[in-house]
Amino acid sequence: MSKPLTIADLKNLARRRVPKMFFDYADSGAWTEGTYRANEDDFSKIKLRQRVLVDMTDRSLATTMVGERAAMPVALAPTGMTGMQHADGEMLAAKAAEEFGVPFTLSTMSICSIEDVASVTTRPFWFQLYVLRDRGFVERLIGRAKAANCSALVVTADLQILGQRHKDIRNGLSAPPKWTLNSALQLATRPQWCLDMLRTQRRSFGNIVGHASNVSDLSSLGAWTAEQFDPRLSWDDIRWIKDLWGGKLIIKGILDEEDARAAADTGADAIIVSNHGGRQLDGAPSSISMLPKIVDAVGDRIEVHFDGGIRSGQDVLKAVALGARGTYIGRPFLYGLGAMGKQGVTTALEIIRKEMDITMALCGKRDIQHIDRSVLANTPF
Ligand code: GLV
Repeated sequence: MSKPLTIADLKNLARRRVPKMFFDYADSGAWTEGTYRANEDDFSKIKLRQRVLVDMTDRSLATTMVGERAAMPVALAPTGMTGMQHADGEMLAAKAAEEFGVPFTLSTMSICSIEDVASVTTRPFWFQLYVLRDRGFVERLIGRAKAANCSALVVTADLQILGQRHKDIRNGLSAPPKWTLNSALQLATRPQWCLDMLRTQRRSFGNIVGHASNVSDLSSLGAWTAEQFDPRLSWDDIRWIKDLWGGKLIIKGILDEEDARAAADTGADAIIVSNHGGRQLDGAPSSISMLPKIVDAVGDRIEVHFDGGIRSGQDVLKAVALGARGTYIGRPFLYGLGAMGKQGVTTALEIIRKEMDITMALCGKRDIQHIDRSVLANTPF
């Protein structure tokens, strides 16, 4: 295939290279997947304002997110089981992000551990925290993120229990894959993926295995989260985490103005407007449709970040125009990783940068810092 030019090209390649259960894990939403689809679809309802005959030289996409420099307003989102899209996936993605100059966020549910990622990076990365019932384990995890010099903690607020994703259940998703006829068929048709996986030791949840007690069978994500994640998680716990961590704190999974105000009250540094990529509450509004309301509610008190449905640099620009200080991409970089390893993550970032840069210029702007609602021809939300 010729060089991938779009995120959709990377997705098609990844579909051919990654075993079905892991490709589907990335490419799924909860129940009917209505919210997952709406996240993407609602971007196309926003139109851009074409401007002409303005100087388009010397353009800049550089910005900051929670005070950290970023080459463009895009970070890599915390995504579970990234090391199953490609062997050592989190280490490869973190290196690609570092070289590109954008933040990388490691998920609690990663395959490579905090220490693995720290061993291949030279600049601090961010760590995403899931709060488990075992608070001793949570304290140790935060301690490990501090020891690895992580510079921001991203607490996920919208996954105390797991939204049901039908594809994962039908595929018998597990990490490492369990030996069944179905999984053997899925693996047999992806020989390069298997070879790469055989060369690494990292095939299960690296932050958990050997670190948490009472964790017997990690492989079924659904059963494991139901057993280990704390369904009582509340705003009081956010205060506990904030004190324990003592550094920059980002609360991920805010989709409601009242929750946004409560998050701002905690003194956190940023919130991420997110519905978990449509993977949790199916039937919730798209993330982009809620962004302007949340910016209006708390944008003067806390940095507002955004994820959900970004598939192009134009989408990033639209989110920035609606008030997001920064955005996160999950699936776009996972498709790149599954398609081509580290080079694929770099390609995904390059595609997004180029699309954003050209779009910004054609909207008559030269600096991402000057992007606001005036670049939009309409504001449907
Ligand atoms: C984990 O964060 C997931 O959405 O599967």
